Amino acid sequence: MKSIVILISGRGSNLQALLEAQLPCQIAAVISNSADAEGLNIAKARGIATAVVEHRGYADRDSFDAALAKIIDTYHPDIVALAGFMRILTPAFVARYRGKLVNIHPSLLPAYGGLNTHARALRDGVKIHGCTVHFVTPDLDHGPIIIQAAVPVLYHDTEQTLAARVLHEEHRVYPQAIRWLCRDQIELSEDGRVISHNRKQAGFTLISPGLE
Ligand code: GRF
Repeated sequence: MKSIVILISGRGSNLQALLEAQLPCQIAAVISNSADAEGLNIAKARGIATAVVEHRGYADRDSFDAALAKIIDTYHPDIVALAGFMRILTPAFVARYRGKLVNIHPSLLPAYGGLNTHARALRDGVKIHGCTVHFVTPDLDHGPIIIQAAVPVLYHDTEQTLAARVLHEEHRVYPQAIRWLCRDQIELSEDGRVISHNRKQAGFTLISPGLE
């Protein structure tokens, strides 16, 4: 059975979704860059090993990433999943886990990489927004896409209501992406494309606002 290490920085709702999904892999550890991350308590309550590597304790990104990798490697994971992990990772770190390192991002990439995705989508007046699970590459929030979920942006949406609608979908697609990885149903090719052995296609079109 494959094993997975999950990296978090905060709330941990995606972590919780992964834990509840009964994935066909062993969740070896949850690691945070902040001792205050609420998600650590979610992991502890389930008896999962936790560790903290405080980024503030390191002089630069290289030394933090080296310390992080050292702890991750004690678990020999097949998959490293970023679940609300709010640190930018160095190219060396990303290269070390090529094909194993995945992230969930709250937008339909390549639109709205970075922070404040929901506010930016509202400001632009887009009618469809969503979330993306992707392999991590050195190019922030631009790695090869594994799965996306789209939601409508509604007339009276606030940042909070839109975020909640997107988060609901994050909790559905992230476990699916990890399940595919666990079962070797997707992989990252040498030339950086996602090869999928899963032939299921989307069943409908989302048109927003709806047609009359
Ligand atoms: C999620 O919206 C995720 O997409 C983003 O950070 C947020 C983390 O939320 N990368 P949580 O800690 O999983 O609740």
